[in-house]
Amino acid sequence: RRSPDMHLTNHISTGDDDVVIKILYCGICHSDLHSIKNDWKNAKYPMVPGHEITGEVNEVGKNVTKFKTGDRVGVGCMVNSCQSCESCNKGFENLCLGIIPTYNLVDLDGTITYGGYSSMVVVHERFVVRFPDTIPLEKGAPLLCAGITVYSPMKYHGLNIPGMHLGVLGLGGLGHVAVKFGKAFGMKVTVISSSPGKKQEALERLGADAFIVGKNDEEMKAAMSTMDGIINTVSANIPMAPLLGLLKPNGKMIMVGLPEKPMEIPPFALVATNKTLAGSLIGGMRDTQEMLDLAAKHNVTADIEVIGAEYVNTAMERLAKADVRYRFVIDIGNTLDKAAATTTE
Ligand SMILES: *[C@@H]1O[C@H](CO)[C@@H](O)[C@H](O)[C@H]1NC(C)=O
Ligand SMILES: *[C@@H]1O[C@H](CO)[C@@H](O)[C@H](O)[C@H]1NC(C)=O
Ligand SMILES: *[C@@H]1O[C@H](CO)[C@@H](O)[C@H](O)[C@H]1NC(C)=O
Ligand SMILES: [Zn+2]
Ligand SMILES: [Zn+2]
Repeated sequence: RRSPDMHLTNHISTGDDDVVIKILYCGICHSDLHSIKNDWKNAKYPMVPGHEITGEVNEVGKNVTKFKTGDRVGVGCMVNSCQSCESCNKGFENLCLGIIPTYNLVDLDGTITYGGYSSMVVVHERFVVRFPDTIPLEKGAPLLCAGITVYSPMKYHGLNIPGMHLGVLGLGGLGHVAVKFGKAFGMKVTVISSSPGKKQEALERLGADAFIVGKNDEEMKAAMSTMDGIINTVSANIPMAPLLGLLKPNGKMIMVGLPEKPMEIPPFALVATNKTLAGSLIGGMRDTQEMLDLAAKHNVTADIEVIGAEYVNTAMERLAKADVRYRFVIDIGNTLDKAAATTTE
């Protein structure tokens, strides 16, 4: 919730339920770029972005039972919620109307939340997850946003059944993790992408079964009515009718991307064969822990490029051009203090 300067932590009392985390890694999510550029017109500067946080517990409040000093932990997209509504009581804090995102929001105590591009963060234990020993903290960091974002809809829309055919639309930070979870669940996975150049690694490195170039009419036609579901990770306005045509009768398309303009949906493309178009936003804390434990069991991690803190501005420029395979992760533990020292000198 708060990102105190390392040297000030001795003077800030840790709340009874709070966990003080020394941040070691933080992924760079595309929404960090939108936020710092104020694309969503809600920026509160100074802003500390970052919601794919991994690190070690430094200190715990006196009522904390889930964690102790030295534990490997993670923090994702939210750090608080009302903790008392129907959604919260069912474990879907992500659906709480009082959700407090990890950065750029006013928390219940009136302070603005600061995210993971920082040496420390203090978070209520409910919003901290245990990081499995077998997942490296850097390769696992993106699971805290990208991982849960694709895992939750796969679970709740029944798109996690062995033998089913899953389409993954868009092969970026979210899409490449969706491919890995799909394969871990024993599904047939087809990537639909606008970049023919990604075919080889989709098939060979990520283990997808097939690859369709969205603009290739022949390839699209050949795959008509073959998919049980599609996880749509694309945040651009692209024609929906041909994509819905890839679904079998009763098929489901789940939106996790956020196109800026309203989408055009020809009703017939849904109505004729009872298709579902749905949306999904991250996931609850219980599901986030479950996702991490499953990722550990199936060796699912993100493909990342680890960078130093001094490289963040360049990384943002590259991210804007989609020039990353598939997530930047900042090595906070080894580079942030050094980069800060250089800028203040
Ligand atoms: C912590 O535990 C004490 C004793 O059980 C209790 O009085 C106090 O209200 C708790 N604090 C919070 C923030 O729940
Ligand atoms: C139509 O789709 C819904 C949602 O997937 C499903 O529950 C229902 O059984 C489908 N109806 C028929 C007649 O198959
Ligand atoms: C887990 O996956 C990584 C690549 O993502 C690979 O290098 C490693 O060998 C795998 N480990 C196991 C036990 O399969
Ligand atoms: Zn994110
Ligand atoms: Zn709530």
